[in-house]
Amino acid sequence: MNTIKKPIDLVLDKALKFRSDKNFPDELECYKEILSSYSKNYNLLNKLLKFLPTVGRWEIALETISAMKKIDCPTELMINEVFVHTKLHNFRLAIDLVKTLLGKDDSSPLLYNNLVNYYNNSLCIDEGIEYFNEELKNDKTNPDIYFSLAFLYYYKILGSTSLIFTPVFKYSKLGEKYRSNDTYNLNVLGMTYYAMKILDKAEYYFLESIKADPTNSIPHSNLGVLYSYNLTPQGSVVDKAEYESTKRLDSTVMKKAIHHLNTALSLNSSLTGTVSLVGDIFLGNKLYDKAINLYKKNSNWASLEGLLKCYYYTEDYDNFHSILNELSSRDSFKESRNVSALLSHANINLGLDINNFYCPNPLAFVHYFDSPSPDGSLNFNSRIIDECNSLELGIRNQGLLSNGQQSTISLFDQDSKLLLKLKNYIISAAADYKKIYKDHDVEFIKNWPKDFQISAWIVTMDKGGSLSPHNHPNGWLSGVYYLSVPEKVNKHDANIKFSLIHPDYPHSEAKFPDLEINTKDSRLVLFPSSLYHQTIPFYDSNKRICIAFDFQPV
Ligand SMILES: [Fe+2]
Repeated sequence: MNTIKKPIDLVLDKALKFRSDKNFPDELECYKEILSSYSKNYNLLNKLLKFLPTVGRWEIALETISAMKKIDCPTELMINEVFVHTKLHNFRLAIDLVKTLLGKDDSSPLLYNNLVNYYNNSLCIDEGIEYFNEELKNDKTNPDIYFSLAFLYYYKILGSTSLIFTPVFKYSKLGEKYRSNDTYNLNVLGMTYYAMKILDKAEYYFLESIKADPTNSIPHSNLGVLYSYNLTPQGSVVDKAEYESTKRLDSTVMKKAIHHLNTALSLNSSLTGTVSLVGDIFLGNKLYDKAINLYKKNSNWASLEGLLKCYYYTEDYDNFHSILNELSSRDSFKESRNVSALLSHANINLGLDINNFYCPNPLAFVHYFDSPSPDGSLNFNSRIIDECNSLELGIRNQGLLSNGQQSTISLFDQDSKLLLKLKNYIISAAADYKKIYKDHDVEFIKNWPKDFQISAWIVTMDKGGSLSPHNHPNGWLSGVYYLSVPEKVNKHDANIKFSLIHPDYPHSEAKFPDLEINTKDSRLVLFPSSLYHQTIPFYDSNKRICIAFDFQPV
């Protein structure tokens, strides 16, 4: 019996209607109906394939591709298949398909660039390096092989404990011999300098990458990140009011950030991290409705955390609980420092008892160590200060800091024996710290990461200096070592104060605990990275100099 085929547009409209009614089984039936009715019609199946990403139906997209491959298998369809596999996190299958495509035609730099990303996403960076080294034996003049190796080493070093990027520069240079001005290579150089916190060079290479190919979305997105997170270029010093003004949406630098992020999204709408970053910019400007609209566009972790903050800040507790529930099913939930900080406040503010896995009582985990000299010799602190002054560490103001400045380039990636001694002292103190708290049943201690990168920066404050409350959600364990503490006119001067309150949190009548630690020369204070802390102003004319650091899991 012949079935009467309905026009495909009508079926897709019906699917959208079922979808908006949250009737997902009937929505899926619509796609199945098209698949069975038009199983021999490549063009109509292709129409279905173009529609499915708009509703995120990747499994059905894969079925559609299978049906299409029985009719024809052009390169474009294989590229679509790669894309669908990445959406389903089938990176191994994506790798094999890209290799097949490169076997047919190896002239697409984009395919090489994507292949590197798939090796990284499937946690097979070493295998990728091995693959490209084998390829190099057959072809020593293909720039994409060198650029791919440079990119793979970028990822490998980024995930290691020390940020020495020598192989990235080596392979990049080798590739440049055969193709200069390659947009992907220039972008990787920008990313490398960004990781090294050499921000003016990072900006230069992202701009060069865009110049080489204005339609490449990746450097636009990276430049947007650079402008929005690092508002003051390296080497420049602006006062706090000027810095604060740069965070406003109508400031020159923020306009540049938004321009590049929007350009990236117009070139490639599937950049989910870029969408959440634009949301973060609105969140930072307290434009919560706009931020919520953006975060709702996708369900990646950063967007859900952004939504959680928006709903808490605006006291929309029904939605706060619903997002919290959604986050709790994800792997990162128990380790999220952002979630933990919010819950420490919400549990007291709203009288709740929600399980705060990472660290429910972070104030109990503040601990300090005093050592006369971490290297056993005299004047350790003044030698460290002299060493830092002799290095090019970059200077930036940041909005939280008054009458002070901090370095940008990570201290412990410098070629300095003295700074290495301080690093080793901090590492051994962290090991002692972990032993002290070993019996505590919290994720912060139980799931202590195996490897860390230690990011450290020097903070110098002058008379009247202070630092507003903040935490370090990218760290696991944070800390500060005091090199020089000014005289205290008042006993609280220049001290560090820990609390559970962020200035954007809703006003609460509840009583929140806090903790003040007296600062003094050579004191090392360690604490969970979720915990808010601030510096109390001081009025002595001597500088307050310290080294702050994060142990970041790798
Ligand atoms: Fe801090």
